Amino acid sequence: MSLLEQINQKQFSVAVIGLGYVGLPLAVEFAKAGIPTLGIDVDPEKIATLNRGENYIQDLDSGVVGGVLENGTLRASTDETLLPNYDIIYICVPTPFSANKDPDISYVLQAAESVQRNLRDGQCIILKSTTFPNTTEGHVQPILERGGKKVGTDFYLAFSPERIDPGNKVWHTANTPIVVGGVTEECTRIAAAANRVIIEKVVEVSSPKVAEMEKLLENIFRSVNIALVNELAQLCDRMGGVNIWEVVEAAATKPFGFMPFFPGPGIGGHCILIDPYYLSWQARQYDFVTNFITLAAEVNESMPFYVQRMVIRQIANSTVRLQDAKILICGVAFKRDVDDLRHSPALRVMELLKQDGAANLCYVDPYIPTVDVHGTVLHAQPYSDQLIADSDVVVITTDHTNFDYEAIVRNAKVVIDTRNATKHVRQGREKIHLLGSGNG
Ligand SMILES: NC(=O)c1ccc[n+]([C@@H]2O[C@H](COP(=O)([O-])OP(=O)(O)OC[C@H]3O[C@@H](n4cnc5c(N)ncnc54)[C@H](O)[C@@H]3O)[C@@H](O)[C@H]2O)c1
Repeated sequence: MSLLEQINQKQFSVAVIGLGYVGLPLAVEFAKAGIPTLGIDVDPEKIATLNRGENYIQDLDSGVVGGVLENGTLRASTDETLLPNYDIIYICVPTPFSANKDPDISYVLQAAESVQRNLRDGQCIILKSTTFPNTTEGHVQPILERGGKKVGTDFYLAFSPERIDPGNKVWHTANTPIVVGGVTEECTRIAAAANRVIIEKVVEVSSPKVAEMEKLLENIFRSVNIALVNELAQLCDRMGGVNIWEVVEAAATKPFGFMPFFPGPGIGGHCILIDPYYLSWQARQYDFVTNFITLAAEVNESMPFYVQRMVIRQIANSTVRLQDAKILICGVAFKRDVDDLRHSPALRVMELLKQDGAANLCYVDPYIPTVDVHGTVLHAQPYSDQLIADSDVVVITTDHTNFDYEAIVRNAKVVIDTRNATKHVRQGREKIHLLGSGNG
């Protein structure tokens, strides 16, 4: 039976390399569909956690994860020599950037090496890590072919980028359409068929390069649009009398040709901040300057500095010195309702304030137990009205839905709101300094 027929009859197996925010949900989804699935990770702690039947990804239902582990549909291991037993191998490892913001595809290359060491005829490898065009064909394929096997005949290879949006209650793995581009048509057909087992709509494109580029376009699109409203927020602050949040909401009433984006303290996470740099780095090899990407990064990365100045202005207007001021940061996760701290703009704001001499910084965040602010480890404070009341300035950096914004404003002396989280608060609005409203 061909691999395609096996997939269509659901008689195949899946291995997922890299069990993070992308890989574990993917592996669980296949296991839920009854497909024997192996999860591989180099982190022994993650594997040990799973082998105790426990879950570490907030979006996943721990009962479901425990169930598929208990009934053996999902196995977890650090042992790459198990790979030959599996028909489809997904690679979901990190693609960070270096200190100079150049792409670091070393994890992808290491994962490709471990696949190559264990490659058997007839397997299909699907790269999901976000990366620059030509990674699949120019970097992964040569590693896999090193032993003499040929793509399209001995094994199959495709790129199919991930679109998971942690914390999103509406769009999840099954109902979010996904794109796939194989090195050959057969590669595309096989990879698309595997994806269709767990995803309702799969869009086939002509090559891995198209799939790689479309993923970057998605994230650059967000970065550019967020930068646009961040710039307009700063203009509104300078003009006074115009609230950017009201402006965006009014514009969003246009039923076509407009999509709302909102300002904030900066962008974070493993995607929108990093991915545009993958393309601007590659463009330089073609003597091409990606102006939109550069400008968007400049505006977005200036936002934590802008919020830092908002805080310092409020302290300057009070009777305390910055060194003594008790500054409470509300929310340090990089976005609402997630437990992900990676490249969080809130953390950047804390680092900048610490650099300026603020010695009395603390934070509340139900999802992040500790943070490291330039070498100082802080523990999340338990939320209390007293904590708010004792603070000289409260800064809302992440608008978690379980914060009580009425209580925050009621008890605080001064609130700096960078997310419009206090939009519905009625009492005490004179204490609120809202980014982009002219009273920041
Ligand atoms: N997090 C998201 O929301 C999201 C969304 C879309 C795309 N992506 C992309 O997906 C990729 C993975 O992101 P993530 O957030 O899941 O990362 P993550 O850091 O949460 O998980 C990656 C996992 O890979 C493991 N790993 C690293 N090298 C390995 C190797 N050689 N063999 C086995 N395991 C290895 C790590 O230990 C880690 O557990 C990135 O390219 C990212 O840009 C992420």
